[in-house]
Amino acid sequence: MRVILFTGKGGVGKTTTAAATAVHAARAGVKTLVMSTDAAHSLGDALGVGLGGASSGAPVEVEPGLSALQISPPHLLGESWRVVQDYLLSVLDTVGIDPVVAEELTRLPGAEEIAALLELRSQVESGPWDLVVVDCAPTAETLRLLALPEALAWHLERLLPAQRGLIRTLRPAAAAAAGVPLPDVAVVEAVTGWQRQMRDVHRILTGDQTSVRLVLTPERVVIAESRRTWTSLSLYGFVVDAVVVNRVFPDAAAEAGPHTPDAWRASWNAAQQEGLVEVRESFAGLPVVVTPYLPSEPIGADALADLAAAQEGGADVLSPVTHRGLTVEQTDEGFVMTLPLPLAHAADLGLQRRDDELVVTVGEHRRVLTLPAALQRCVVEGASVRDGLLRVRFVPDEEVWPRG
Ligand SMILES: Nc1ncnc2c1ncn2[C@@H]1O[C@H](COP(=O)(O)OP(=O)(O)OP(=O)(O)O)[C@@H](O)[C@H]1O
Ligand SMILES: [Mg+2]
Repeated sequence: MRVILFTGKGGVGKTTTAAATAVHAARAGVKTLVMSTDAAHSLGDALGVGLGGASSGAPVEVEPGLSALQISPPHLLGESWRVVQDYLLSVLDTVGIDPVVAEELTRLPGAEEIAALLELRSQVESGPWDLVVVDCAPTAETLRLLALPEALAWHLERLLPAQRGLIRTLRPAAAAAAGVPLPDVAVVEAVTGWQRQMRDVHRILTGDQTSVRLVLTPERVVIAESRRTWTSLSLYGFVVDAVVVNRVFPDAAAEAGPHTPDAWRASWNAAQQEGLVEVRESFAGLPVVVTPYLPSEPIGADALADLAAAQEGGADVLSPVTHRGLTVEQTDEGFVMTLPLPLAHAADLGLQRRDDELVVTVGEHRRVLTLPAALQRCVVEGASVRDGLLRVRFVPDEEVWPRG
């Protein structure tokens, strides 16, 4: 099952583009689900159908071959996640938890995000679809959402053994005396279950059936943000396989005939053409889909199908995704680890070695990479970013791995 996520800056047309892509695919015979991870109910508005409101949570058939789903507010999960969150924070407060873990803990995610990911997982694993189109929230939230499965698995793996250890070694009375709260069975079970499910979600999101498409408008501020988004998504191991430029004004000069086009339109046309050039340069190698600014809001399946038909430069919705993920190569001196980081600048990049982990930071985004066994016995010798690739050189650590 193919999964395509649409993200981009607020208001650029993510929901419209996701819905139009879904309608277009469905009408071409691809059994499609379009779902929104955004709490705002705009997907139903764009399709012109009610998606069941707050209580539903089940896909609604929009027309044959096309269903839509609005994630319902995760009341139940919200409650139990808060219990776990509170518990983890109370443990943190009372026992001497490793400051590294404490730091990661401050990034504990929210319940809505977990609920959205679990819903995506269940639709991908048991839904009857060929294609799942996901309308995501604006960029920052989407990045948080997509980075979550790996980050959460990280927290849980470190905290659970500690908790089990606590339960075993501290008798309740001793624990109470020491002021350490004990997790009840419900906490441990909930956390173990999520840990397994988060691993599934991560596998789905970084598999060769999932890609992200960036929606943007041809304005400099929006393009700049989209460039950073591409880098951040790559950091977390996600593949961007197309860029959609939305709201491109029709060319005034071409329409005006013998008349002089109005200056306002002509000025926007010129600015947008420059923006398009910048998009093609920035995202060289990716298909660029250009969507016209329609004279009215495309609401309803027919209008969305027209919008999709008016797009220039299509991007296929079913072919598998080519991943260029993290690779490790052996060299004469040691190893080189390579991670694609398109458009990254050395100045924004941070690397920190922490035992068997490498923490890679780009701007405010970071990823904790667990090093493969061979690299754990090496020290970092240097790093560079060139041609969209981060290369980290490792050499054997003389202390643990003497030269033969
Ligand atoms: N190509 C277009 N032509 C005309 N109207 C458009 C076009 N694309 C989007 N719109 C309209 O612009 C508005 C915002 O679009 P949309 O809701 O898809 O943006 P969004 O990126 O999902 O916003 P949010 O960040 O709030 O989720 C809607 O009213 C939509 O109908
Ligand atoms: Mg939206």
